[in-house]
Amino acid sequence: MNQAADRPTVLNTGRLPPALVQRLKDRYDYLELPAVDQRSAFLAEHGARVRGVVTSAAVGIDEPTLAALPALKVISSFGVGLDKLPLPAAAARGVAVGYTPDVLNDCVADMGFGLLLDVMRRITYADLFLRRGHWAAGQVLPLSRKVSGAKLGIVGFGRIGQTIAKRATGFDMEVRYHSRRPVADAPWTHDPSLLELARWCDALMVIVSGGAETRHLINAEVLDALGPQGFLVNVSRGSVVDEAALIQALKKGRIAGAGLDVFEDEPHVPAELMNLEQVVLQPHVASATQETRTAMANRVWDNLEAFLATGQLISAAPLPQAG
Ligand code: NAP
Ligand code: 8YV
Repeated sequence: MNQAADRPTVLNTGRLPPALVQRLKDRYDYLELPAVDQRSAFLAEHGARVRGVVTSAAVGIDEPTLAALPALKVISSFGVGLDKLPLPAAAARGVAVGYTPDVLNDCVADMGFGLLLDVMRRITYADLFLRRGHWAAGQVLPLSRKVSGAKLGIVGFGRIGQTIAKRATGFDMEVRYHSRRPVADAPWTHDPSLLELARWCDALMVIVSGGAETRHLINAEVLDALGPQGFLVNVSRGSVVDEAALIQALKKGRIAGAGLDVFEDEPHVPAELMNLEQVVLQPHVASATQETRTAMANRVWDNLEAFLATGQLISAAPLPQAG
């Protein structure tokens, strides 16, 4: 293994695009974290020389692995979600953390909107209706729901939430949002009560940060407030929605339908969700276009290169709040 001084050791703990992996192999002393059962021996042998970690937002790095990397200076993550990164432990150690905000706003907003259109207009359902021969057999497709002009509640109003609101404006939708703090100068109404927002809207779009604070923010009470005519779209994290409560609400008709890109135990999706026709499912692909994934990979690279050369990241993750 090449350990020349000009080839710092970089450890991949996540799932990264092959082109980025090749670039890392060409430039660095590149290592990949093995399966859990071989991890301790691997870290005992190689951990001391690792200076950079590259990972992906959906996988991240756990605290025991971080602790086994005493020379680590920087983590460069592929994605914007920070819920799988040990931010307090990294900050305490002075390990810098880079991520890829903004470059994925458009595609995640597009997917959120795509799921909204699909589940309300029943696009996937109607496609299956046609392919299965029901149209040709003279059956009648149930009517769907109008998206233009409907009321959209957005939960989480950061970079992506605000991009979704702009999409909604083009559809003449009335938009309100919920977050802990109102966004200064935003031309949309802030609702400090998630329950009130859910009661008011026709569709609730979830694009809040993941992690312990937002776990099961969308619970049975919120789903009941959304009601039998209401739709849920989740493009944030599976942990934000109480999946068991969602399945019950869908099965009992207590909400009208759901569009989901993320799940509580990825890549496992409950069979009960798959069996429901008023649900549209995606395998966590909201950012997965060639253009956006290339931009994300470039930012992972640029963050790593910039930090190892200058001690500065292009996009530094926000430091955890004390207390
Ligand atoms: P962001 O700019 O940091 O926005 C996060 C929003 O969540 C803010 O409006 C924040 O407002 C709000 N929030 C945080 N905690 C909250 C709480 N407890 N209650 C209510 N609101 C809360 O992040 P972003 O770039 O828009 O990305 C949002 C999330 O989308 C990411 O963290 C990631 O998990 C997910 N994501 C998913 C995909 C995908 O492939 N499906 C792709 C990209 C991102 P306040 O702080 O004022 O509450
Ligand atoms: C990716 C994401 O699917 O940015 C995020 O937080 O969830 C997505 O863009 C993820 O980075 C792949 O690990």
